[in-house]
Amino acid sequence: MIPYGKQFISEEDIAAVTETLKSDFLTQGPKIGEFEKKFAAYIGSDFAVAVSNGTAALHLCALALNVNEDSKVITTPITFAASANCVRYCGGEVVFADIDPETALIDIDQVKSLLEASPKGTYHGIIPVDFAGYPVNLEHLRKLADEYNLWIVEDACHAPGGFFTDTKGVRQNCGNGIYADLAIFSFHPVKHIACGEGGMITTNNKELYEKLLLLRTHGITKDQALLHENQGGWYYEMQELGYNYRLPDMNAALGISQLKRAEENLERRKEIAKKYDDAFAGTNIQLIKPAEGYDHAYHLYIIQVAKRKELYDYLKKHDILAQVHYIPVHQQPYYQQLGYSKEAYPYANNYYKNCLSIPMFPSLTDTEQDFVIEKILEFVQ
Ligand SMILES: Cc1ncc(COP(=O)(O)O)c(C=O)c1O
Repeated sequence: MIPYGKQFISEEDIAAVTETLKSDFLTQGPKIGEFEKKFAAYIGSDFAVAVSNGTAALHLCALALNVNEDSKVITTPITFAASANCVRYCGGEVVFADIDPETALIDIDQVKSLLEASPKGTYHGIIPVDFAGYPVNLEHLRKLADEYNLWIVEDACHAPGGFFTDTKGVRQNCGNGIYADLAIFSFHPVKHIACGEGGMITTNNKELYEKLLLLRTHGITKDQALLHENQGGWYYEMQELGYNYRLPDMNAALGISQLKRAEENLERRKEIAKKYDDAFAGTNIQLIKPAEGYDHAYHLYIIQVAKRKELYDYLKKHDILAQVHYIPVHQQPYYQQLGYSKEAYPYANNYYKNCLSIPMFPSLTDTEQDFVIEKILEFVQ
């Protein structure tokens, strides 16, 4: 089977994990700080907080931003459910804004219409997603967010290494914290950097950073400067209701080792995308191509075709396991029970009918890619 995505583990990765297994630390130890520092340097943010997975990262962001029963938060229906669920974990209301069919990203004009239709103060934040690796223009979104006093949590799970160029001509890496208050990443095996399970929050906001550190580990601190009193060497205080969302040191060791190849792997992803682009040009396969000034990170390579289910089955018959990203979140039974209309987001629904993610991962061989292309062209022709 050729899957749509998979991890790429090298001998060096295995050696890095083995070394940590032989060390004194399995849960949070020295590898965490090292991973955070190196990841922040790669992305270009001031701070990074390693956590147990991307979902935990989203939950901690929602907690740090005080999402509660009174919060209304906007996100896209074309994303993994976790982008929306973090609002629900804190009792808030998720409001979806439809996508732009050209990019499959949240449509900033739709966000604007939502904001204009309610009194200022109705909405509290927005969670844009750099879906498939296509960077959201956060400069535009920030302008709107400032007008309505909203925070931004960028879900950059698909986009480490992606960037857009802002109106000043400056490269803005996904997750660099310039326009978003917080950004999150996942290190699930199919992502650019695999930790098994793992996640990261990046930010340039020191206050939020310190709050996240506390929330990541039960709300407990041993920091002398923060303690209300000190009863002895053992003493710690639980100052907030936090969680255990720590990343184990073994996973961080793998992440550090993977990070070394991040740029090389990203280049390979771009090479694969270019070959698909060329192969499908002039056919009735619809592609999403990044606009000028946007550097796509190609977590996914998505095609849109009329007979998607038939193509999925045809590829599976030939041992190619494509996937669909995503079933719109508002269509999920949980959100249906909450009263969301299935028909409310026509661009998202229409995109879902035709989309298919085809194999895209750095270790995909030329022979495998040629076979995938051959089978897809055979089907559409
Ligand atoms: C866009 C997006 N957000 C959040 C997540 C959640 O990450 P994790 O699986 O690490 O919890 C994922 C992972 O699949 C994702 O693709």
